[in-house]
Amino acid sequence: MTDEVHLDSNVPGNPAYHFTIVPAGTPGRVGWAQRAPLVPGAGLATQCVHAGVQPDPAYGAVMPPIYQSSTFAFRDVCVNAGYDYTRSGNPTRAALEEAIAVLEGGMGATCTSTGMSAVIVALNLLPTGSHLLCTVDCYGGTFRALEHARAAYGLQVSYLDLADLRAVAAAFRPNTRMVWIETPSNPLLRLTDIRAVAAIAKAGGALTVVDNTFLSPVQQRPFRFGADLVVHSTTKYLNGHSDVVGGAVVSAPGQLALLQRIQSMNNLLGTSQSPHDAFLVLRGLKTLLLRMRAHEAGAQVVARYLAGHPAVAKVHFPGLESHPQHALAKAQQDGFGGMVSFELAGFRQDRVDHVLRSLRWFTLAESLGGVESLVAHPASMTHASMTPEARARAGITDGVIRLSIGIEDPKDLVADLEQALSTLPA
Ligand SMILES: Cc1ncc(COP(=O)(O)O)c(C=O)c1O
Repeated sequence: MTDEVHLDSNVPGNPAYHFTIVPAGTPGRVGWAQRAPLVPGAGLATQCVHAGVQPDPAYGAVMPPIYQSSTFAFRDVCVNAGYDYTRSGNPTRAALEEAIAVLEGGMGATCTSTGMSAVIVALNLLPTGSHLLCTVDCYGGTFRALEHARAAYGLQVSYLDLADLRAVAAAFRPNTRMVWIETPSNPLLRLTDIRAVAAIAKAGGALTVVDNTFLSPVQQRPFRFGADLVVHSTTKYLNGHSDVVGGAVVSAPGQLALLQRIQSMNNLLGTSQSPHDAFLVLRGLKTLLLRMRAHEAGAQVVARYLAGHPAVAKVHFPGLESHPQHALAKAQQDGFGGMVSFELAGFRQDRVDHVLRSLRWFTLAESLGGVESLVAHPASMTHASMTPEARARAGITDGVIRLSIGIEDPKDLVADLEQALSTLPA
């Protein structure tokens, strides 16, 4: 035994600790302290990692702390550090809001508890007596919210194929206040020319809202084409790990008044996102670019395999040259996304069920945009809240099978589809 004490120079509190300790909150003098102004001009991969986050001003934590507090102490009467109550604002959520706004190229954002609450925040901007135009094959939950607003609050809604610009212009009414675009649409991956529709909307005095969930800002930036608001279910690609639900509403550059309205609406409705969930989405964003590239690469392989399979009648994927709007996809998008829908030749429910039951790597589940591949049957799952008539109008038949391509090896995904399709009941 020796009484010699080894003093570790890396342990704060030891007399040997060799770093100078300054009060929490002391400004940094090294490079990262000057990083924030670089973010707007940085490349997308850099923005994904750094937008909205700086080492924490108190202790320098490299990942933002989760400010898991409902309320914030005032420093003096009517004096605080910018936050008073977490429904209205929270530093962790603010970091995520800034990150999403930077990635979308918008003025600012407000983050919500789910994608549906983002939809509800945007719809609540409409004055009484409004009319809204909506993508005919929108997400089933959006359809349900619009139908509720129609029945409960007298919102007038017209669903139409927004690719038909003449029909869009003709559907405009003096009280049309909003055009709701989902492009690519869910689940048929039809595209809308955002620039053309936003121009019609602007001329008619309506706001253009784009639900950008299916592509994320990595593959589509609607503000470039004149959108006023972008909506996300961050549950999907932005978070990317199927472990959180969340949403965001982003306002276009220069639209400060609109930003303040969406922020106030989120606070008023009580739909703001929890700090912990905001943290998870912020963590997901760091790999968004890498994940989107992998999702798309897999989707290209799977779509081409399905397009060449004799048992498959139709493949819906904007990355295929055969997609009727492939040229628009190339012009408007920075990639084709990771969603692929298909229909078997000669619809039979038992054959559809066989595919849904026999896939191994594709999990039969709602949702999309996670690292793992999912398969869904829109008619009975994601779009079950549409009436059969609305599904028929949108072309969502009982035979449509939707795939969310994860980031697994595409060879494994194709082999899985092959084993399912090669054993279809006769
Ligand atoms: C395009 C789109 N928008 C909005 C939503 C709603 O998002 P959430 O499920 O996070 O409420 C979804 C959900 O699937 C969606 O696919």
